[in-house]
Amino acid sequence: MSKDVIIALDFPNGKETIEFLDKFDEKLFVKVGMELFYSEGKGIIKEIKKRGHKIFLDLKLHDIPNTIESSMRVLSKLDIDMVNVHASGTIRMMEAAVKGLGKDRPLIIAVTQLTSTDQKRMEEELLIKEPIEKVVLKYAENAKKAGLDGVVCSPLESPLIHKSLGDDFITVTPGVRLKGDTKGDQVRVTTPKKAKEFTSDYIVVGRSITKADDPVEAYKRCIEEFLK
Ligand code: C5P
Repeated sequence: MSKDVIIALDFPNGKETIEFLDKFDEKLFVKVGMELFYSEGKGIIKEIKKRGHKIFLDLKLHDIPNTIESSMRVLSKLDIDMVNVHASGTIRMMEAAVKGLGKDRPLIIAVTQLTSTDQKRMEEELLIKEPIEKVVLKYAENAKKAGLDGVVCSPLESPLIHKSLGDDFITVTPGVRLKGDTKGDQVRVTTPKKAKEFTSDYIVVGRSITKADDPVEAYKRCIEEFLK
């Protein structure tokens, strides 16, 4: 099972993204989210790939199965390594996503509950009354049933998911901060070191690297804590 640090490229345009990437000598695993993809489209995917980096395209698709299948068919033409959907779209929707990607597909994972959601908001605003861990596990089981490779979840939920669904079912965990950095809008956060102890397969780190005074040094600290 490969493990890695994924840098969230939450930049508003291609120029800032490329300036950021040019600081690094190493080949990275990066995440392109909605902001960057909606502003630059598939051109930025090609630019990043040309530099030899791996890409997680984080568009968190959620729609009716037919629309998801055809959208994934389009995304499958991009040279990406990982893509995702919302597990709350149900098993049928996730099956449609896998079908749309076809053979030789990138890894596909499902968002369980966003790491910015906590028990109180889930209960009061979404009317989901179960404990958040139980909800996350149920959504992960659904993702596995639908043939997905893993889930996006909090590092804290990783051990439970691996215990129930196996070590091959990958956990991709945002909500990671280097010691001393602010939480921002994330609620369920932890450090790279803790995420390793919690058996995360991939950690997604945004602001702790992109907003650091020295992003390369911050990235190396994440690698050191998480992989070594
Ligand atoms: O800056 P920060 O490290 O909080 O960035 C986390 C990244 O992970 C953001 O790009 C965010 O969209 C993403 N993400 C998340 N929670 C999820 C899924 C993705 O924070 N459940």
